[in-house]
Amino acid sequence: MVCLGNICRSPLAEEILRMKLKSSSLTEVSVDSAGTSEYHIGEHPDKRSTANARNHGVDISRHLGRQFQKNDFDKYDFIYVMDSSNYTDVMAQARSEADKAKVGLLLNELHPGKNESVPDPYFGGEEGFELVFKLLDESCTCIINKLLTES
Ligand code: 4NP
Repeated sequence: MVCLGNICRSPLAEEILRMKLKSSSLTEVSVDSAGTSEYHIGEHPDKRSTANARNHGVDISRHLGRQFQKNDFDKYDFIYVMDSSNYTDVMAQARSEADKAKVGLLLNELHPGKNESVPDPYFGGEEGFELVFKLLDESCTCIINKLLTES
């Protein structure tokens, strides 16, 4: 799961997906998150994101921000980006067509082919975080259903 800062959207997407994997017995799947920027490396998530997550029973408080690296292409089969700018930044680091084929907008899992972005909540109010949670939760359910169908 990749966003810009790795302090709002992607840590939440990571933990939501991890919880859904656990409750679906898809225990061999590993999930992680990163930011395209170096702005918040080593920082805990944004307090507003942590609080919103907690309201939904999700704990992201121990996460530490990290930056996306080229070797993430080697470690993961799918790289879900939150918005079109993350998509451009991650694709620019791809070393091969195989790397590029791993990258996709997360919301295309929920609304296939629409190329929609998870809105960046950082400069907005609380309602932005609530919308982000809903979009991430629904998209992660789609990923689980896909993995269960494939397994
Ligand atoms: P995120 O949100 O990409 O969902 O973690 C942001 C976090 C930090 C900044 C922008 C977006 N920033 O400009 O520092």
